[in-house]
Amino acid sequence: MASVTSLSDNVQQHLASALTATLPEAAGADPLLRRSDRADFQANGILALAKKAKANPRELATQVVERVVTGDVIQDVEVSGPGFLNITVADKAITENLAARYADDTGRLGVPTTADPGTTVIDYAQPNVAKEMHVGHLRSAVIGDSVVQLLEFTGENVIRRHHIGDWGTQFGMLIQYLDEHPHELDHKDDRVTGEEAMSNLDRLYKAARKLFDSDEEFKTRARRRVVDLQAGDPHTLAIWQKFVDESKIYFFSVFEKLDMEIRDADIVGESGYNDMLAETCRLLEESGVAVRSEGALCVFFDDIKGPDGKPVPLIVQKSDGGYGYAATDLSAIRDRVFNLKADTLLYVVDARQALHFRMVFETARRAGWLGDDVTATQLAFGTVLGKDGKPFKTRAGETVRLVDLLDEAIERASAVVREKAQDLSEEEIAERGAQVGVGAVKYADLSTSANRDYKFDLDQMVSLNGDTSVYLQYAYARIQSILRKAGEVRPAAHPGLPLADAERALGLHLDSFAETVREAAAEYAPHKLAAYLYQLASLFTTFYDKCPVLRAETPEQVKNRLFLSDLTARTLHQGMTLLGIRTPEKL
Ligand code: ARG
Repeated sequence: MASVTSLSDNVQQHLASALTATLPEAAGADPLLRRSDRADFQANGILALAKKAKANPRELATQVVERVVTGDVIQDVEVSGPGFLNITVADKAITENLAARYADDTGRLGVPTTADPGTTVIDYAQPNVAKEMHVGHLRSAVIGDSVVQLLEFTGENVIRRHHIGDWGTQFGMLIQYLDEHPHELDHKDDRVTGEEAMSNLDRLYKAARKLFDSDEEFKTRARRRVVDLQAGDPHTLAIWQKFVDESKIYFFSVFEKLDMEIRDADIVGESGYNDMLAETCRLLEESGVAVRSEGALCVFFDDIKGPDGKPVPLIVQKSDGGYGYAATDLSAIRDRVFNLKADTLLYVVDARQALHFRMVFETARRAGWLGDDVTATQLAFGTVLGKDGKPFKTRAGETVRLVDLLDEAIERASAVVREKAQDLSEEEIAERGAQVGVGAVKYADLSTSANRDYKFDLDQMVSLNGDTSVYLQYAYARIQSILRKAGEVRPAAHPGLPLADAERALGLHLDSFAETVREAAAEYAPHKLAAYLYQLASLFTTFYDKCPVLRAETPEQVKNRLFLSDLTARTLHQGMTLLGIRTPEKL
């Protein structure tokens, strides 16, 4: 029995039973409990219930208050305003709840898992073969990874899919070029760095492109290659595989720098659905969901029209017989629903692809592949902007390479760590610098809601003051240092002690971690967890200002405050882990 009922759930139950006893028809109604500045919690639900029952809200509230059982959990409840309930919980209940969380030896801080988990297939971190990764790929990877952690923490069955761009007409040109210049991707030895792999690919891409644009005969040969590739010609496939392998060396080096675990088995790119494409189109055409229009196989929508007023179709097969992005995504839906048995499909993809996904989901619904029992959602993210508020570009106007950006963040963070460092070795500074720098980039991305654009501002990101990961990491490290200083004195909960205001505020917030995680997971909203953690660190700062820990009045007081500090650290650590951010022990 590791899971702990949070105080708000407990208070909620008390209120619900008092409410039902007063007004039987209100059984099951939500008392709408919130944290409040006036008391510990405020319930606003009585107003609407009174209106429905044609009762006076204040009178109803007063009757409910008389029936609320006070004592161990609820110390005090009173009516306020037009019929709100203000609830104060007992100090002892707070400490006991936190002690139960602290004692949870599964490390889950008493957070329960869902009773009936579903299966979610999440499509994220999907860069393109033979291409540089850019900031857009960063967002998908960072948000996706956090959502995976959140969902898994709640007990959901999660299947990860990295739908990399490894298929399509552009490969004809590359394959043809490599076939004609067979040594262009050879390596001196086995240890190819990601950087080297990418520069090889880049060089090859540019050379192939140049030939393609200037040499008509090469162009013809390249086009023929596309046909060979789609037909599965073994020699063509073998060359294609070289591009994929070379790209993976690069991808994995970036994911490693991002401190993110991506498993090879979860990489199922567009090519993985090649065998299904013809059937997908046949099924759509036979069922009448798709129709031929000027030779292409198209799906039309009443409400989707271009600027000229003409309908914009989803093209599943081009007039030359080639299959595109949509055919692949539709086939992937069939695979995810029927083979992987998903009941939730999640796509962490740039908001600029929203129309594509709307059309793809609607097509799959019409075809019967997405039934009422399956939800499909695009977790659409906004654009990364430069300091000037325009889409993030280099001074030369090119898209920013993800690697350069991470390197710069790490460099800045190392400078910050070095400045503050007291007893850290050079090696430690480098390690912490990476953890702080990468954490800063991830946190900046995760702390605004995904659908919003955000400004990439490194100065702000590595700042010690304000809503940054560094601030949270320092709070964590500070607590570790307090615990080290305490030496032999171990943290221990003393539920008999009265709590100071700052302790109550910190304690109630600590107890609401479970609720925050539940909400952030259900809404795919890591930013809610980020906001929670920032507030946690702020409440700890206030607590630490107001309540001496090691110099508290009594030994019990010292131990109880060490316990509050340690639980704060554990909660910070667990929360940051769910965001994919490290919490170094020393900074
Ligand atoms: N590779 C694509 C890109 O770089 C993203 C793929 C998104 N996933 C999908 N199932 N379409 O834009």
